[in-house]
Amino acid sequence: ELPGRVTIVEVGPRDGLQNEKQAIPTRTKVELIDRLGRAGLKVIEATSFVSPKWVPQLADSTEVFQQIPKRPHIRYPVLTPNLKGLQRAIAAGAKEVAIFAAASETFSQRNINCSIAESLKRFEEVVEVAKEAQVAVRGYVSCVVGCPYEGAIAPAAAADVAARLYGLGCYEVSMGDTNGVGTPATVAAMFKECANAIPVKAIAAHMHDTYGQGCSNVLTALQMGISTIDSSIAGLGGCPYSPGASGNVATEDVVYLLSGFGIEHGVDMDSLVDTSAFICKALGRSSGSHVAQAMLAA
Ligand code: HMG
Ligand code: MG
Repeated sequence: ELPGRVTIVEVGPRDGLQNEKQAIPTRTKVELIDRLGRAGLKVIEATSFVSPKWVPQLADSTEVFQQIPKRPHIRYPVLTPNLKGLQRAIAAGAKEVAIFAAASETFSQRNINCSIAESLKRFEEVVEVAKEAQVAVRGYVSCVVGCPYEGAIAPAAAADVAARLYGLGCYEVSMGDTNGVGTPATVAAMFKECANAIPVKAIAAHMHDTYGQGCSNVLTALQMGISTIDSSIAGLGGCPYSPGASGNVATEDVVYLLSGFGIEHGVDMDSLVDTSAFICKALGRSSGSHVAQAMLAA
């Protein structure tokens, strides 16, 4: 049965922009976040407090975070890979952070320069310090069905890392198809294993659209009772440590899909498409969203 309402976690300002090579002004990032909030998105992943050597595009995370005109009832989580990132995030005023692990050893090494086991050990302390500061922690697992370096990943490997993050105290674990290789078949097998390991309510779907399966995979998640969906405005995105990975499933496309079922999402499509046009113009590119392209052409 499909959920009656869905929470969309908008990851465009973070996942969407982290891989952009051109310099994006801080004020453009802040305006993007503000427009997304005005469009009705209630959870907006704003930036990352990672090493600026690893992700130069988000080196202005403190400025971005501080300049967001914070709206009531909107959450602005940020990515933190370690204690240093958490401390920077807290200093900037973050109330919610996300830690990120992987189901693939090679990807873990490439992305955060340590093994899966080392990352989980590191996150233990991050969660502890976050809890003391009353900062909520979300977890991510990358490469949940496939890895750009290792190929297919076993559902049990993804579910195991999800269970570990949940056990550390993450209130929710977002399952990331980092390079978008999943299909409804592989994604369903992975979510089934996860649902055996942690409550379905605590599972989120983070689908990339590299192979055009993003919306199909989101529908698969919905059919399995998952009601938190990550997506990115205009389908922006890609991970710098996942070569060739394209954007997340587009928020406009997810909203259109949800509306088709009458599932509540709280987002205004016209404002969303305006926001899509705004960021595409700023980046000098066309939208990765089918819906935005269709609506702007109509
Ligand atoms: P490292 O080089 O092993 O770290 O990187 P280190 O502790 O040895 O530190 C090296 C230098 O970085 C030091 O500076 C530290 O102070 C500094 P130096 O002494 O050389 O001047 N440093 C920091 N500076 C600012 N903020 C920090 C921080 N940490 C260290 N937090 C590290 C390890 C984890 C830091 C690095 O690998 C890193 O930042 N990785 C992040 C990569 C990343 O952001 N990837 C994209 C996000 S994940 C993703 O997109 C997937 C997802 O969307 C889900 C999906 O799609 O699957 C979430
Ligand atoms: Mg991602």
